[in-house]
Amino acid sequence: MEAAGAEGDVATELRQRLAAGGQDHVLRFWPELDGAARRALAAELCRMDVAEINRFFRRARGDGGGAAAAAGLDARMEPVPRDVLGSASRDRGLVPRWESRGLAEIAASRVAVLLLAGGQGTRLGVPYPKGMCDVGLPSRKTLFHLQAQRLRRLQQMAEEQHGTPCHIPWYIMTSGRTMESTKEFFQKHRYFGLKKENVIFFQQGMLPALGFDGKILLEEKGKIAMAPDGNGGLYRALGSHGIVEDMERRGVHSVHVYCVDNILVKVADPRFIGFCLEKGADCGAKVVEKTNPTEPVGVVCRVDGVYQVVEYSEISLGTAQRRGPDGRLLFNAGNIANHYFTTAFLKDVVNTYEPQLQHHVAEKKIPHVDITTGQLVQPEKPNGIKMEKFVFDIFQFSKRFVVYEVLREDEFSPLKNADSQNGKDNPTTARHALMSLHHCWVLNAGGHFVDENGTRIPAIPRLKDANDLPIQCEISPLVSYGGEGLEQLVKDREFRTPLIIDEDGIHELVKNGL
Ligand code: UD1
Repeated sequence: MEAAGAEGDVATELRQRLAAGGQDHVLRFWPELDGAARRALAAELCRMDVAEINRFFRRARGDGGGAAAAAGLDARMEPVPRDVLGSASRDRGLVPRWESRGLAEIAASRVAVLLLAGGQGTRLGVPYPKGMCDVGLPSRKTLFHLQAQRLRRLQQMAEEQHGTPCHIPWYIMTSGRTMESTKEFFQKHRYFGLKKENVIFFQQGMLPALGFDGKILLEEKGKIAMAPDGNGGLYRALGSHGIVEDMERRGVHSVHVYCVDNILVKVADPRFIGFCLEKGADCGAKVVEKTNPTEPVGVVCRVDGVYQVVEYSEISLGTAQRRGPDGRLLFNAGNIANHYFTTAFLKDVVNTYEPQLQHHVAEKKIPHVDITTGQLVQPEKPNGIKMEKFVFDIFQFSKRFVVYEVLREDEFSPLKNADSQNGKDNPTTARHALMSLHHCWVLNAGGHFVDENGTRIPAIPRLKDANDLPIQCEISPLVSYGGEGLEQLVKDREFRTPLIIDEDGIHELVKNGL
């Protein structure tokens, strides 16, 4: 047996269980481990349900990632029908109604937000959770900071309109990789002015990385290669940490679930919440129009008559390029990872549907210890798989599903890559997106910008080249959530850049009003 010599140390039950599941190779280096390493490995293995992991692998593989399944999927995809769709731009006349419905719901403390922050940010390559990123805004605020301040502003708006104190609980899902540093960051920043009891952290599960043969990979001789189980690990975590019960106790009816990396995210967007409530939806997705077939966003669509997101990694180029009679992409409902769920729907998912969710398979280059030689291998091509559930995999169980389309420039600029990697979705594009939006807010509220000579800068400034900076303008979320309330501050005034408007007033070079 591979774990020769381990008999005296490892609980017999554990060894037998591993052997029964064909995974006892993970004890191969047991004799070389010291006491602490043995205890850590045994503890990790005790928590692991090997039979379940093998079952996940068989199901995920049987389901077939890969080209064959993608080809089958393409043929079964249909675009979102018009009757479930609402649009912040095309249905402009209805937006005020949706907004006031959403704000009333917030004022009644019936809305919560849930942040998915368990990812490892591998593409961005920072050694800390993505939410802690400072993309170089004039204020140097991080993503967490912006989101917290947007929540504070919304609470204030709802209170002002309805005259009752309210709060928006903020559930934050982390993983083994991000929990401690995220919590410390919030403590250090005193929860960014939110009440501590309304910021609730919980941790998602992890799964081992597997070779193509289904064998668990070792990261070190005494350590399993573990990774978070995908953002759809949410539903299991909701169950194991009693989060839905907590929502019920607090009287929460609507939950806005979103991903950490979008600098423009409108947390608890009252328009989106109000739209979903008006439609009687139990589940909804916010989308932007996808205009480029190769953009790495999933698309919301129907497959075999049920709603789902087909990920960018799962759609073929041919299908992504298909166009409708109006010349727009046929599958253009680009998923920006902002979802609406009722608490009742989440409860059904946790209690009934979660076990039916299948894992998606991602083939990866996974550094691992070679079982025969004990050497660490850094593979040059994919050598194994990670299994992940996706947050939107529960759309299929919705009884009333809706889609809400918003403008990209208002709501979507994700931070995925490092500045050095490529020119897309990086700290620079995120920073520019936020400042361009705030520039527009000032113009729409009647303000103007002037250059160093006092000459007005055209509303659409002529950028000389790609390296030219956009207008440097940042407005604190505590002052404005979505462009509202700025007229009294900026109307008919001229500003030099950089311009910062925050709760303490207007900063930098400000010229007198006209
Ligand atoms: C995600 C969406 C994609 C969408 C895109 C928009 C999913 C599965 N895919 O893709 O459809 O078009 O955003 O930007 O939602 N996370 C966890 N736990 C995990 C893994 C990830 O909490 O185990 C969190 C991350 O912290 C992040 C979010 O999920 O907040 C999205 O993860 P990421 O891997 O960046 O998703 P994308 O591939 O960019």
